[in-house]
Amino acid sequence: MKVNFFDLAAQYERIKREVMREVEKVCATQRFVLGENVRSLEDEVAGYSGARYGIGVASGSDALLIGLMALGVGCGDRVITTPYTFFSTAGSIARLGAVPVFADIDPRTYNIDPDWTETLLKRDWSRRIKAVLPVHLFGQPAEMSAIREIARRHGAAVIEDAAQSIGAVYKGKRAGSLADIGCFSFYPTKNLGGFGDGGMITTDRKRLADRIRMLRVHGSTRRYYHPVIGMNSRLDELQAAVLRVKLRRLDEWTEKRIRNAGLYTSLFEKEGLLGHVTPPHVEEGNVSVFNQYVVRVKKRNALKEHLAAKGIGTEIYYPVPLHLQKCFKYLGYKRGDLPRSEAAARQTLALPIYPELKDEEIRYVVSSIAGFYRSADKSSSG
Ligand SMILES: Cc1ncc(COP(=O)(O)O)c(C=O)c1O
Repeated sequence: MKVNFFDLAAQYERIKREVMREVEKVCATQRFVLGENVRSLEDEVAGYSGARYGIGVASGSDALLIGLMALGVGCGDRVITTPYTFFSTAGSIARLGAVPVFADIDPRTYNIDPDWTETLLKRDWSRRIKAVLPVHLFGQPAEMSAIREIARRHGAAVIEDAAQSIGAVYKGKRAGSLADIGCFSFYPTKNLGGFGDGGMITTDRKRLADRIRMLRVHGSTRRYYHPVIGMNSRLDELQAAVLRVKLRRLDEWTEKRIRNAGLYTSLFEKEGLLGHVTPPHVEEGNVSVFNQYVVRVKKRNALKEHLAAKGIGTEIYYPVPLHLQKCFKYLGYKRGDLPRSEAAARQTLALPIYPELKDEEIRYVVSSIAGFYRSADKSSSG
């Protein structure tokens, strides 16, 4: 048996006719940038997420960049975030000349630790902390009540990196409506993925929404008049048309991801693997949308190789925490500074979780993992 880590072909087969019909309609209009589909998708994603405004942009990375710009983050400002995330979370901060300040994670959820965040906010230089940027990693919301409360006390804004978490729920509210600004990615591997790059910013605040709309078109409200300096980051009609078709199926796909995650976890228990494999922990009151199903395992690299030999694709998210990336050397972090993120980077492995995955494929993954630990245990006792 072969189990791909990710497989978009099966999903495409099921929606092909509908998607191509919408694509043809866009082609017939020859209107490709910021048209009807983008406007409708903005309303639909905002409505879906429980936010008032949605503003389409060219990628999740741009959503973060423009979101931070809209909050007034600039040269020398500090922004607290997690080092255990995709690069662009901190890259967007640094691109603005601001300074990423890393707080370690909760080792169970892998999300930013509010206590660590508060410690940073209490430091003597903390007046320059303009914002806190939590990531809802792998599909599970960060501890937003605590983060918002701490940020409020210290006068910092909060911006959600919800790139991996459209539809995720925290205490009854969806990702994208849990802070001043929410940022989504429509990169193809995301739960709502386009046929290329795309992103969306959500907010409840009209003033911010107006500013964001301006920033995505070079800081202009009227063609060739530029009150502020922005950038070119527009969502295109073809992407929006595809995403609108997919959004109608998102809940169904999310339910399948959650079901797949439940099956993995129950099989790990049944196989007696919990001494070797720690399944994802979902906090009470949270709904994770499982953009990734990430386990913490013993002998991670050897297990990955063993699974590859069995035809099973896996991924490591993320092998190097951001405070140890070469490009952030100037920030002065060293190994050991953020030990929980460093441990996660060494010990975690993402298993296939996409909605079309079959039960027998999940069973095969789990029995292959069981086989690996059986022989590892045998050779260590022998
Ligand atoms: C946590 C996180 N933040 C930001 C991004 C950036 O999104 P994009 O690839 O659309 O620029 C991604 C996805 O790639 C992500 O996973």
